[in-house]
Amino acid sequence: MPFRVVQWTTGNVGQRSVRAVIASPDLELVGCYAWGPDKVGRDAGELAGVEPIGVVATDDVAALLALRPDCVIYNPKWPDVDHLVQILESGAHVVTTAAFITGHALGEGRDRIADACVRGKSTIFGSGMNPGFANLIGLVSAGICDRIDSITVTESVDSTGYDSPDTERSVGYGLPIDDPSLPELVERGTAVFGDAVRLMADALGVELDEVTCEAEFAQTTEDLDLGSWSIDAGCVAGIAASWKGHRNGRAVVNLRVRWRKGQYLEPDWKIEHGYIVDIQGQPCVRTKVEILPGPDFVARSFADYMALGMIITSLPALNAIRAVCAAPPGIVTYTDLPLVTGRGFVSA
Ligand SMILES: NC(=O)c1ccc[n+]([C@@H]2O[C@H](COP(=O)([O-])OP(=O)(O)OC[C@H]3O[C@@H](n4cnc5c(N)ncnc54)[C@H](OP(=O)(O)O)[C@@H]3O)[C@@H](O)[C@H]2O)c1
Repeated sequence: MPFRVVQWTTGNVGQRSVRAVIASPDLELVGCYAWGPDKVGRDAGELAGVEPIGVVATDDVAALLALRPDCVIYNPKWPDVDHLVQILESGAHVVTTAAFITGHALGEGRDRIADACVRGKSTIFGSGMNPGFANLIGLVSAGICDRIDSITVTESVDSTGYDSPDTERSVGYGLPIDDPSLPELVERGTAVFGDAVRLMADALGVELDEVTCEAEFAQTTEDLDLGSWSIDAGCVAGIAASWKGHRNGRAVVNLRVRWRKGQYLEPDWKIEHGYIVDIQGQPCVRTKVEILPGPDFVARSFADYMALGMIITSLPALNAIRAVCAAPPGIVTYTDLPLVTGRGFVSA
């Protein structure tokens, strides 16, 4: 029997999730939540850019939960603790990409979520590409060393085509390069990486003294037209953040992101177009995950290429559904689940 799933919103990530659910023999889409009133009443397939599939999007949460889905694939712009509590209390499991790894970044909301899991005998798991799958790659890479001095995971990408202006502005994009609020915005907006640092340290058996966040910024020297929004010259178009877990005065875990937009960045940060794990120890290990279009991939614009980023964000959560449905109730991470693979997606 396929797992019965509800798709929660159909933005950049959610659209790829819907497409993957349709393609998966293990999953059946039984409902779709729409946040935007313009999407209510429309077919989920159509919202995902494919043929209609006979599942109509609704904002009626009770009606969706009355369908008794096994799992909700939760991809909204911001996590809504009230909604998560409602879903988990109903007994539906949750896989999410929305700023959730251990839940600590949600503060008291985490306790409410954990309580809802107990009441509903349900489980929540958070993963995207990064944080998420990239942390798993880091931990797996560390498994061949007999001494680990430090482990650094870097996401180095050009995000010019990522169309989520609110989430981008929330970390400081578009603000004047000398705006004093920038470091605090980055720390607040990327707080989920702090959870990922603690998760990795915990998995490596390390008790951290402290977790810190450092940020650097780059400006665009020309106005940037990004389609649905724009960034003026002299404003932030590049952000680098480094979340570090320290022990005995050394950064043992370092999760770095380096994101740039446009051609006119100053400083002109070089981008590696992927995810790099760098382990210092014995031996030193470098693992690079490059994300490249398949031979049949068609892109008419730079923005179209972002579909690859959305696939790699949505699939780790979706691929975990089988394991999450079988897990004990509560908040689970990669360190609690059996190996999550690409089961069901091998082409015919
Ligand atoms: N870990 C990773 O690797 C990674 C990578 C990329 C993104 N993400 C996260 O994944 C989530 C989805 O990203 P996305 O690019 O798909 O986002 P998005 O397209 O900007 O927004 C997703 C959907 O959220 C709904 N929405 C709009 N305003 C909202 C609000 N104020 N509160 C709650 N929901 C709202 C809309 O739903 P409707 O479509 O129903 O109107 C929208 O389509 C975000 O939390 C993002 O930060 C994680």
